[in-house]
Amino acid sequence: LSAADKTNVKNVFAKIGGQADEYGADALERMFTTYPQTKTYFPHFDLAKGSAQVKGHGRKVAGALIEAVNHIDDLAGALSKLSDLHAQKLRVDPVNFKLLGQCFLVVVATRNPSLLTPDVHASLDKFLCAVGTVLTAKYR
Ligand code: HEM
Repeated sequence: LSAADKTNVKNVFAKIGGQADEYGADALERMFTTYPQTKTYFPHFDLAKGSAQVKGHGRKVAGALIEAVNHIDDLAGALSKLSDLHAQKLRVDPVNFKLLGQCFLVVVATRNPSLLTPDVHASLDKFLCAVGTVLTAKYR
């Protein structure tokens, strides 16, 4: 990520602010509907629309993204524990991170259209890809 990318990503999360949890939940809900195969990782969840579990998980995902933004120069360090979890315990197929990232971008676009200029879109996409790369780096 270039310096401009980092600034763009920080601005997005500053604008989203306290609504980040809802963005996280919306992105998950969209992923489960658009790419139903992603539901296979959550057999223990109630995935009905508006489910408290999905909302709670959206809060966790948003929290991790905010943590990543706050340590954007050390994503691997900031996400190290989550990387262990996703790669070694959950063994989520890496393809799914692109799907969630795509859904998060669409949620930003629909909820805050003026925010997602093409430049910001590119920066946010790079950031979400970088997060996905870290979370899938520890397969063995
Ligand atoms: C758990 C973040 C992508 C499947 C978690 C947790 C966080 C998180 C913060 C909770 C960890 C804890 O409780 O200690 C993220 C981020 C992602 C991402 C930031 C990418 C931007 C994915 C994808 C899948 C997935 C693509 C599968 C489609 C899971 C599962 C759990 C989990 C199954 C455990 C849920 C539970 O039983 O509570 N993730 N995740 N994650 N994640 Fe991810």
